[in-house]
Amino acid sequence: MVPAISWPVVGIFSGAIGVFTFSTWAALTDGLPAPATVLLSATAIFVLFTVLHDAAHYSVSTHRWVNVAFGRVAMLFVSPLISFKSFAFIHIEHHRNTNDDENDPDHFVSGAPWWQVPVRFPLMDVPYLSFLVRNVKLRPRAEVLETIFLMGTAVAVILTCAFTGHLWTLAVLYLIPERVAMFVLAWWFDWLPHHDLEDTQQENRYRATRNRVGSEWILTPLLLSQNYHLVHHLHPSIPFHRYVAAWRRNEEAYLEREAAIGTVFGQQLNPDEYRDWKRLNGKLARLLPLRMPTRSSAHAAVFHSVPVASVDRLTDDSVLIHFGVPDDLRDQFSFEPGQHVTVRTDLGDEGVRRNYSICSSATSNALAIAVKHIPGGAFSTFAMEELRAGHTLELMTPTGFFGTPLHPLATKNYVAIAAGSGITPVLSILQTALDVETESRFTLVYGNRDSDSTMFRDKLDDLEARYADRLRIIHVRSRDPRHPEHLRGRIDRAKLDQLFGSNLSLSFVDEWFLCGPVEMVTDLRGLLLERGAEPDRVHMELFHGYLKPKVADGFSPATVAVNLRGRQHEVSLAAGDTVLESALKAGLNAPYACLGGACGTCKAKVLLGSVAMEQNFALSPAVVEAGYVLTCQSHPTSDEVHVDYDA
Ligand code: FES
Repeated sequence: MVPAISWPVVGIFSGAIGVFTFSTWAALTDGLPAPATVLLSATAIFVLFTVLHDAAHYSVSTHRWVNVAFGRVAMLFVSPLISFKSFAFIHIEHHRNTNDDENDPDHFVSGAPWWQVPVRFPLMDVPYLSFLVRNVKLRPRAEVLETIFLMGTAVAVILTCAFTGHLWTLAVLYLIPERVAMFVLAWWFDWLPHHDLEDTQQENRYRATRNRVGSEWILTPLLLSQNYHLVHHLHPSIPFHRYVAAWRRNEEAYLEREAAIGTVFGQQLNPDEYRDWKRLNGKLARLLPLRMPTRSSAHAAVFHSVPVASVDRLTDDSVLIHFGVPDDLRDQFSFEPGQHVTVRTDLGDEGVRRNYSICSSATSNALAIAVKHIPGGAFSTFAMEELRAGHTLELMTPTGFFGTPLHPLATKNYVAIAAGSGITPVLSILQTALDVETESRFTLVYGNRDSDSTMFRDKLDDLEARYADRLRIIHVRSRDPRHPEHLRGRIDRAKLDQLFGSNLSLSFVDEWFLCGPVEMVTDLRGLLLERGAEPDRVHMELFHGYLKPKVADGFSPATVAVNLRGRQHEVSLAAGDTVLESALKAGLNAPYACLGGACGTCKAKVLLGSVAMEQNFALSPAVVEAGYVLTCQSHPTSDEVHVDYDA
């Protein structure tokens, strides 16, 4: 209900007039420099618009004349070219036709292309004048005369100042502050609540304006409640200081009607997302933007040329490589923590292809891998000795399934066990999980020779400091005599048993991540399963040491249909070949990396027929159950097989 008198409006009106008067007086007596005068006066005019706005909706008082009186005075400051009554008429047309590009005068701002925004914002009253001219015949004569009188007076004052040499003084006292205020008003009152919304007021009044939720403690006073502008459009007679309360009182009703909501940071939320957002923010009292990890948008893994942004030394025998992914490939190179990329390049006459886990957080914009030198290794030697920022590598879009789905409201206990370069996917999982799941905890058991050979040593120290209460890192070192005795040696069954007793409790662990040499990973996985861990909760990634399969006997030739990047191909498979081999022999650019059943890059779904896999270190039982296979390990067991790499 409209109050008899809205004291908050009276308060901001008095304050704004006081500030404007002070800044004018101080400027005229040389007590205030011009920039300070502009800032103070622009702030006062910005505040006076809210008085004008509430008065135009007759929500300052139940007495109509009180609204008109406040409105007329405020109008003189905001834009003295239009009468208060004309402004109120045009503004109501904005409410009636919000987002209608023909009939909404404010669409001049809210529908502006981004590059015109800086010009249109300070000219916000131009479409109002033009709208008035087009509808002048509909307006009462007295109102039109008042507008003409105001315009004539404004022009006369400007000309007088110009001819008497006081134009700069007028500019500092009023003309510049007024345009600055207009810019901010157009931005906060029009563009923020209305831009990029497709519905008009007539089509869907709940989706023609948005609320911008979050950081109310600062935004509500700063924007004078226009962060809840949707409430104003739904109930124009509610005084500005009651928007937030009105929203809270009726929130579920608005959500049922799919009200348009955005966050401070521009993320659009549907009602369910808003409820989640609210629970999360209410619980944690934090309003950070949430960037969830997403898989690559590429249908099937594909190579792109990607420049190297930097190459930094991690240890004596490892480097960190950051890639500068071009903007148009960002979606293709988005990834989930635990995924990897395949690098392809020509070294001399030799084309090399290597698979590396992504070590950067999936909530960052970075794409980075770490390469550890392997004596005699072609690519790792090249990376250590020759690779520099500015070089370009062929990079396959991310693949792999080592991670686990994350949810902002989850509260989980994760344990990762890594050795050597096995830290790389774990580092990505660890950072992303702690970032997304702000209640989850992570324990990392990390094995290395000694401190100097520990990859990401400083980074891990930083993370432990940052997430002190949620991250625990246990370093196990095999050749460091100064390391605590109980943490010396290799990570094996005995060590894990010892740690179970003192540091870990199986029953409290939700998910396990194992990454490193094949003996360590398979041995520890066996131990965890023996101790009762569920297989789906023990994730493993093999880096080296797994056996390449031998040539298979006992398999017959077959016909294989292959779906790859939207096209279907038919290839003949010779006895003993894998599905991947048959595709590559037929000239298809099917994805692969390790050829040993460890990386998952060659995954495809079997649509018809059946295959037998020689080994599988990459796909979980649930994924295999869903029909997926590693084509580098798959031999047909039926005459015809149809596989889909795009599935
Ligand atoms: S290519 Fe790595 S699992 Fe098949």
